[in-house]
Amino acid sequence: MATDSPLIIALDYPSLDAALCMADQLEPSRCRVKVGKELFTRSGPAVLEALHGRGFEVFLDLKFHDIPNTVASAVQAAAEQGVWMVNVHASGGRRMMEAAAKRLQDHHLSTHLIAVTVLTSMQTEDLNETGVAATPQEQVMRLASLTQQSGLSGVVCSAQESAQIKALCGAEFLKVTPGIRPSFAAANDQQRIMTPSEAMRAGSTHLVVGRPVTQAEDPMAALAAIEAELAVV
Ligand code: C5P
Repeated sequence: MATDSPLIIALDYPSLDAALCMADQLEPSRCRVKVGKELFTRSGPAVLEALHGRGFEVFLDLKFHDIPNTVASAVQAAAEQGVWMVNVHASGGRRMMEAAAKRLQDHHLSTHLIAVTVLTSMQTEDLNETGVAATPQEQVMRLASLTQQSGLSGVVCSAQESAQIKALCGAEFLKVTPGIRPSFAAANDQQRIMTPSEAMRAGSTHLVVGRPVTQAEDPMAALAAIEAELAVV
Protein backbone atom coordinates (compact mmCIF):
# COMPACT_ATOMS: atom_id res chain seq x y z
CA MET A 1 0.00 0.00 0.00
CA ALA A 2 2.10 2.91 -1.24
CA THR A 3 1.62 6.29 0.38
CA ASP A 4 2.52 9.72 -0.88
CA SER A 5 2.77 11.10 2.66
CA PRO A 6 6.11 12.73 3.53
CA LEU A 7 5.83 11.35 7.09
CA ILE A 8 8.15 8.62 8.34
CA ILE A 9 7.44 7.47 11.89
CA ALA A 10 10.55 6.34 13.81
CA LEU A 11 9.87 3.00 15.53
CA ASP A 12 12.57 3.40 18.17
CA TYR A 13 11.71 0.38 20.31
CA PRO A 14 13.79 -2.38 21.90
CA SER A 15 11.59 -5.28 20.79
CA LEU A 16 9.58 -6.58 17.89
CA ASP A 17 6.42 -6.69 20.00
CA ALA A 18 6.73 -3.06 21.11
CA ALA A 19 7.40 -1.90 17.55
CA LEU A 20 4.44 -3.83 16.16
CA CYS A 21 2.18 -2.61 18.95
CA MET A 22 2.89 0.94 17.72
CA ALA A 23 2.72 0.02 14.03
CA ASP A 24 -0.72 -1.49 14.62
CA GLN A 25 -1.94 1.90 15.77
CA LEU A 26 -0.75 3.56 12.55
CA GLU A 27 -2.11 3.40 9.02
CA PRO A 28 0.26 2.43 6.20
CA SER A 29 -1.71 4.59 3.77
CA ARG A 30 -0.78 7.68 5.82
CA CYS A 31 2.86 7.21 6.81
CA ARG A 32 5.99 5.14 6.38
CA VAL A 33 8.03 3.74 9.27
CA LYS A 34 11.72 3.80 10.18
CA VAL A 35 13.59 0.86 11.69
CA GLY A 36 16.89 1.74 13.33
CA LYS A 37 19.92 0.00 14.75
CA GLU A 38 18.53 -1.06 18.13
CA LEU A 39 15.29 -2.56 16.86
CA PHE A 40 16.96 -4.29 13.92
CA THR A 41 19.81 -5.64 16.03
CA ARG A 42 17.32 -7.12 18.49
CA SER A 43 14.65 -8.37 16.12
CA GLY A 44 16.43 -8.91 12.81
CA PRO A 45 14.70 -9.25 9.45
CA ALA A 46 11.53 -10.50 11.18
CA VAL A 47 10.59 -6.90 11.91
CA LEU A 48 10.82 -6.00 8.21
CA GLU A 49 8.67 -8.97 7.27
CA ALA A 50 6.07 -8.09 9.90
CA LEU A 51 5.90 -4.43 8.85
CA HIS A 52 5.75 -5.28 5.15
CA GLY A 53 3.03 -7.80 5.93
CA ARG A 54 1.02 -4.96 7.47
CA GLY A 55 1.47 -2.87 4.33
CA PHE A 56 4.12 -0.42 5.55
CA GLU A 57 6.97 0.91 3.47
CA VAL A 58 10.14 0.80 5.58
CA PHE A 59 13.19 3.04 5.84
CA LEU A 60 15.95 0.78 7.20
CA ASP A 61 18.18 3.29 9.01
CA LEU A 62 21.38 1.28 9.57
CA LYS A 63 23.86 3.86 8.20
CA PHE A 64 26.25 1.38 6.61
CA HIS A 65 29.94 2.39 6.50
CA ASP A 66 32.55 -0.15 5.37
CA ILE A 67 34.60 -1.11 2.32
CA PRO A 68 32.71 -0.74 -0.98
CA ASN A 69 31.96 -4.43 -1.58
CA THR A 70 30.69 -4.99 1.97
CA VAL A 71 28.41 -1.97 1.89
CA ALA A 72 27.13 -2.84 -1.58
CA SER A 73 26.26 -6.35 -0.36
CA ALA A 74 24.51 -5.03 2.76
CA VAL A 75 22.51 -2.55 0.69
CA GLN A 76 21.58 -5.33 -1.73
CA ALA A 77 20.47 -7.53 1.20
CA ALA A 78 18.26 -4.74 2.52
CA ALA A 79 16.76 -4.06 -0.89
CA GLU A 80 16.09 -7.75 -1.51
CA GLN A 81 14.09 -7.77 1.70
CA GLY A 82 11.90 -5.15 0.13
CA VAL A 83 12.78 -2.02 2.09
CA TRP A 84 11.69 1.28 0.57
CA MET A 85 14.80 3.18 1.68
CA VAL A 86 18.23 2.37 3.13
CA ASN A 87 21.20 4.55 4.02
CA VAL A 88 24.99 4.70 4.25
CA HIS A 89 27.53 7.19 5.64
CA ALA A 90 28.70 9.59 2.93
CA SER A 91 32.07 9.76 4.70
CA GLY A 92 32.65 6.22 3.41
CA GLY A 93 33.55 7.99 0.19
CA ARG A 94 32.73 8.04 -3.49
CA ARG A 95 33.83 4.50 -4.30
CA MET A 96 31.75 3.06 -1.46
CA MET A 97 28.64 5.00 -2.48
CA GLU A 98 29.08 4.29 -6.19
CA ALA A 99 29.47 0.56 -5.49
CA ALA A 100 26.26 0.52 -3.46
CA ALA A 101 24.28 2.48 -6.06
CA LYS A 102 25.63 0.31 -8.89
CA ARG A 103 24.73 -2.88 -7.03
CA LEU A 104 21.10 -1.76 -6.76
CA GLN A 105 21.05 -0.79 -10.41
CA ASP A 106 22.66 -4.04 -11.59
CA HIS A 107 20.02 -6.03 -9.71
CA HIS A 108 17.12 -3.81 -10.84
CA LEU A 109 16.33 -2.92 -7.23
CA SER A 110 14.34 0.29 -6.82
CA THR A 111 15.06 0.89 -3.11
CA HIS A 112 16.00 4.51 -2.43
CA LEU A 113 19.62 4.81 -1.36
CA ILE A 114 20.48 7.91 0.67
CA ALA A 115 23.44 9.03 2.78
CA VAL A 116 24.07 10.58 6.16
CA THR A 117 26.42 13.54 5.75
CA VAL A 118 27.62 14.73 9.17
CA LEU A 119 26.02 13.43 12.36
CA THR A 120 24.26 16.29 14.13
CA SER A 121 26.17 15.34 17.29
CA MET A 122 29.44 16.42 15.59
CA GLN A 123 30.70 19.93 16.18
CA THR A 124 33.64 21.71 14.56
CA GLU A 125 36.10 20.45 17.23
CA ASP A 126 34.89 16.86 16.77
CA LEU A 127 35.44 17.10 13.01
CA ASN A 128 38.86 18.69 13.50
CA GLU A 129 39.83 15.89 15.85
CA THR A 130 39.09 13.37 13.10
CA GLY A 131 41.26 15.32 10.65
CA VAL A 132 38.42 17.18 8.91
CA ALA A 133 39.34 20.87 8.79
CA ALA A 134 35.86 22.20 8.06
CA THR A 135 32.79 23.35 9.92
CA PRO A 136 29.89 20.89 10.05
CA GLN A 137 27.98 23.11 7.62
CA GLU A 138 30.82 23.12 5.06
CA GLN A 139 31.26 19.37 5.43
CA VAL A 140 27.52 18.72 5.05
CA MET A 141 27.50 20.59 1.73
CA ARG A 142 30.64 18.88 0.49
CA LEU A 143 29.24 15.44 1.33
CA ALA A 144 25.76 16.19 -0.05
CA SER A 145 27.35 17.08 -3.36
CA LEU A 146 29.55 13.96 -3.28
CA THR A 147 26.48 11.86 -2.49
CA GLN A 148 24.70 13.21 -5.55
CA GLN A 149 27.74 12.76 -7.80
CA SER A 150 28.00 9.16 -6.59
CA GLY A 151 24.50 8.41 -7.90
CA LEU A 152 22.50 8.28 -4.66
CA SER A 153 19.00 9.70 -4.40
CA GLY A 154 19.37 11.96 -1.39
CA VAL A 155 20.60 12.68 2.11
CA VAL A 156 19.46 12.72 5.71
CA CYS A 157 19.69 16.35 6.80
CA SER A 158 18.40 18.80 9.36
CA ALA A 159 15.71 21.19 8.20
CA GLN A 160 18.23 24.02 8.69
CA GLU A 161 20.27 22.47 5.86
CA SER A 162 17.40 21.66 3.48
CA ALA A 163 17.25 24.99 1.66
CA GLN A 164 20.98 25.09 0.96
CA ILE A 165 21.02 21.44 -0.15
CA LYS A 166 18.04 22.14 -2.40
CA ALA A 167 19.94 25.04 -3.97
CA LEU A 168 23.02 22.83 -4.43
CA CYS A 169 21.45 19.50 -5.45
CA GLY A 170 17.97 20.40 -6.71
CA ALA A 171 14.39 19.77 -5.60
CA GLU A 172 14.33 16.12 -6.75
CA PHE A 173 17.26 15.15 -4.52
CA LEU A 174 15.67 13.65 -1.39
CA LYS A 175 16.09 15.50 1.90
CA VAL A 176 14.98 13.30 4.76
CA THR A 177 14.73 15.38 7.91
CA PRO A 178 14.56 14.37 11.58
CA GLY A 179 14.32 16.83 14.48
CA ILE A 180 10.73 17.66 13.56
CA ARG A 181 8.45 18.99 16.26
CA PRO A 182 4.82 19.77 15.50
CA SER A 183 3.51 22.87 17.25
CA PHE A 184 1.72 20.67 19.85
CA ALA A 185 4.79 18.63 20.83
CA ALA A 186 7.64 18.86 23.35
CA ALA A 187 11.18 19.36 22.03
CA ASN A 188 12.52 16.38 24.09
CA ASP A 189 16.30 16.21 23.57
CA GLN A 190 16.20 17.69 20.05
CA GLN A 191 18.15 20.96 19.85
CA ARG A 192 17.41 22.71 16.60
CA ILE A 193 13.84 21.84 15.75
CA MET A 194 11.41 22.90 13.05
CA THR A 195 7.71 22.31 12.65
CA PRO A 196 6.58 19.99 9.82
CA SER A 197 5.41 22.85 7.62
CA GLU A 198 8.57 24.92 8.22
CA ALA A 199 10.68 21.93 7.21
CA MET A 200 8.65 21.30 4.03
CA ARG A 201 8.89 24.98 3.13
CA ALA A 202 12.66 24.80 3.65
CA GLY A 203 12.84 22.02 1.03
CA SER A 204 12.70 18.78 3.03
CA THR A 205 11.00 16.02 1.03
CA HIS A 206 10.40 13.60 3.92
CA LEU A 207 9.99 14.17 7.66
CA VAL A 208 11.14 11.70 10.32
CA VAL A 209 8.95 12.00 13.41
CA GLY A 210 9.39 9.82 16.48
CA ARG A 211 8.18 10.67 19.97
CA PRO A 212 5.59 13.34 19.06
CA VAL A 213 3.62 10.45 17.51
CA THR A 214 4.89 7.32 19.28
CA GLN A 215 4.54 8.77 22.78
CA ALA A 216 1.22 10.46 22.12
CA GLU A 217 -1.79 9.08 23.93
CA ASP A 218 -3.45 8.64 20.55
CA PRO A 219 -0.74 8.23 17.87
CA MET A 220 -3.13 8.47 14.90
CA ALA A 221 -4.63 11.65 16.34
CA ALA A 222 -1.12 13.10 16.62
CA LEU A 223 -0.42 12.05 13.04
CA ALA A 224 -3.67 13.64 11.91
CA ALA A 225 -2.69 16.85 13.71
CA ILE A 226 0.61 16.87 11.77
CA GLU A 227 -1.28 16.28 8.51
CA ALA A 228 -3.49 19.24 9.37
CA GLU A 229 -0.42 21.42 9.98
CA LEU A 230 1.00 20.29 6.65
CA ALA A 231 -2.21 21.03 4.79
CA VAL A 232 -1.72 24.72 5.41
CA VAL A 233 1.88 24.84 4.09
O1 C5P B 1 11.67 11.03 18.72
P1 C5P B 1 12.30 11.89 17.66
O2 C5P B 1 11.28 12.57 16.75
O3 C5P B 1 13.32 12.85 18.21
O4 C5P B 1 13.07 10.81 16.74
C1 C5P B 1 13.83 11.19 15.66
C2 C5P B 1 14.43 10.01 14.97
O5 C5P B 1 15.35 10.51 14.02
C3 C5P B 1 15.20 9.05 15.84
O6 C5P B 1 15.09 7.74 15.28
C4 C5P B 1 16.62 9.56 15.77
O7 C5P B 1 17.58 8.56 15.94
C5 C5P B 1 16.66 10.07 14.33
N1 C5P B 1 17.67 11.11 14.09
C6 C5P B 1 17.68 12.32 14.77
N2 C5P B 1 18.63 13.26 14.50
C7 C5P B 1 19.55 13.02 13.58
C8 C5P B 1 19.54 11.83 12.88
C9 C5P B 1 18.58 10.88 13.16
O8 C5P B 1 16.82 12.56 15.62
N3 C5P B 1 20.42 13.95 13.32
